[in-house]
Amino acid sequence: MARVPFIAGNWKMNLTVAEGVALVKELMPRVNGLGGVDIAVCPPATALHSVGEALADSEVALGAQDVFWADSGAFTGMLSPLMLLDVGCTYAIVGHSERRGRFGKPDESLSEEAARVFGDTDVSVNLKVKAVLEHKLIPIVCVGETLPEREAGRTDEIVGNQVQSCLAGLSAKQVSGLVLAYEPVWAIGTGRACEAPEANRVCGVIRSVVGDTFGADASKAVRIQYGGSVNEQNAHDLVSQPEIDGGLVGGASLDASKFSQIVQVASVIAKDMRYV
Ligand code: PGA
Repeated sequence: MARVPFIAGNWKMNLTVAEGVALVKELMPRVNGLGGVDIAVCPPATALHSVGEALADSEVALGAQDVFWADSGAFTGMLSPLMLLDVGCTYAIVGHSERRGRFGKPDESLSEEAARVFGDTDVSVNLKVKAVLEHKLIPIVCVGETLPEREAGRTDEIVGNQVQSCLAGLSAKQVSGLVLAYEPVWAIGTGRACEAPEANRVCGVIRSVVGDTFGADASKAVRIQYGGSVNEQNAHDLVSQPEIDGGLVGGASLDASKFSQIVQVASVIAKDMRYV
């Protein structure tokens, strides 16, 4: 069974409610009916409800950028999986490097401690993944090495450890249904995407770590996106790689034309390569 490529847009801390609704209204006619590709947008929390309403009956799903693991309670500022379901989410990004404090473009004015401001760790990411799955949301679990880690030749070790820790305690069936995103931290928001063959190689490493821990069926089924400076120009190179099942797109997802071109590329690839 071929894996369906998945293109998700992470809007990060951008767009008002009105701007978000306007963006998806421009996006939907460009991508509805393409086929062969799953699509989602992940607005900021303030826009989830309105954007979700605007997306009703479209082929674009709704995702959140983060989630907390408890159902409810005294957790100021957080959103629970139940709340995400309540506004129509299908997906939740978990463990994005910006939540872990692993910034691609660190703010030089901050101390390292201050830069780790949101404090996600593999342990908290694992709790979030489990909570999300329990509520039948689909987590998009982000992993990736920093530039110093890559330069020290530690990419495979770092990414492999993140995959194992973030997915600890899950069943093979649960892993089969989730999404992993390989996001080299140095490629995020820098305009410097990872070269497609190298991104493919690391996604292959991730797939084999999944296989070692959860078995061959899970490793064949799990979708692995690439994220980090994906745009309408490099999308074809990246998404046509055999181990890469789509993209997690930041900056380019704020532009309906660019994002829809990336989705179109994935749709064409899916039809040409995976369904013949
Ligand atoms: P970018 O962000 O496309 O702006 O590099 C990607 C991400 O953070 O998922």
